[in-house]
Amino acid sequence: MLILAIESSCDDTAAAVLEDDKTVLSNVVSSQFDVHARFGGIVPELASRCHIESIWPVVLEALAEADVELDQIDVIAATQGPGLIGSLLVGFTFAKGLALVQDIPCVGIDHMAGHLLSSFLDHPGPGFPYVALVVSGGNSSIYKVADHATFHCLGRTRDDAAGEAFDKVAKLLDLGYPGGPIVSEIAENGDPQSISFPRAWLDKDSLDFSFSGLKTAVVNHVHKLQQQGALLPVEDICASFQEAVVDVLVEKTIRAAVRNEINTVVLGGGVASNKRLRNMMRQRCDAENFDLYIPRPVFCTDNAAMIGLAGYYSYQRGHFVSPDDDVYSRSPLH
Ligand code: KG4
Repeated sequence: MLILAIESSCDDTAAAVLEDDKTVLSNVVSSQFDVHARFGGIVPELASRCHIESIWPVVLEALAEADVELDQIDVIAATQGPGLIGSLLVGFTFAKGLALVQDIPCVGIDHMAGHLLSSFLDHPGPGFPYVALVVSGGNSSIYKVADHATFHCLGRTRDDAAGEAFDKVAKLLDLGYPGGPIVSEIAENGDPQSISFPRAWLDKDSLDFSFSGLKTAVVNHVHKLQQQGALLPVEDICASFQEAVVDVLVEKTIRAAVRNEINTVVLGGGVASNKRLRNMMRQRCDAENFDLYIPRPVFCTDNAAMIGLAGYYSYQRGHFVSPDDDVYSRSPLH
């Protein structure tokens, strides 16, 4: 079975072609970094307009790269939510229209389900059940995953997502956008123990996250140094901030696995490409004798291959969308 997958929930227009749940024949991503960079963050209206311009060329490129004709496609999978409504509408409406014209089924996919299953794109995938940490620009959540379609949220962020915190710190330090990759690269030359930024552990048993206090602590630290006329130790600030984020993400994920007696841990989402997070999670999982699955960075950040994979399982369960089905901004999986 050939699946055409479309992802447009935020600022990337992406399309992929998959053969069943086994082979990714193509995985094309058109990024809008240049459009949003000068604003230091995503401008939703501009994102929607870029999706409209890119969607057809990106789909054509995905088909060409896979060496597949549109008529050979058996099902179309598209992200239905969560995300920016204008952005989602472009991809989801395009997918429904194309499916209607081609007279093939269309399945609507939750973006979080895509991230939760993305480790199956690299074979062999994890066994069930597993604990998954999904960390991106819009989400920071821990899930128990029982099978390809049963996701139970164990904890979520109460304010900022981890990626959002990286982006805001990068903006504060005038480092560019998107902040995560830049901050983590600069952090490699800094001392992670040099500044003691706070870790929000919340209530004793809580698996929730909170990153807004940390962000404020970084802002206050920078302002204090600026008022003193001191030179900003940017490398140390980045390294210490990153350490505070990663510490909490790793500790709470391990706690979730221990508490649920699950010995397989999976990462997903854009922040999962962070080297310090990958390394610290690897060390902790080794120490606990847990299996750890981390997708390749190209499958961590937003991509359509993960939507195609989730689409395969939705198709198997016969969950098809009708032409009047709508997009949604908040995930029911939270
Ligand atoms: O999953 P994603 O591509 O898009 C969504 O937000 O859904 O994640 C993007 C986020 C951005 O906030 C970006 O700064 C962050 O992931 N990110 C990173 C790294 N690479 C991307 N954060 C920390 N370290 C990285 N290496």
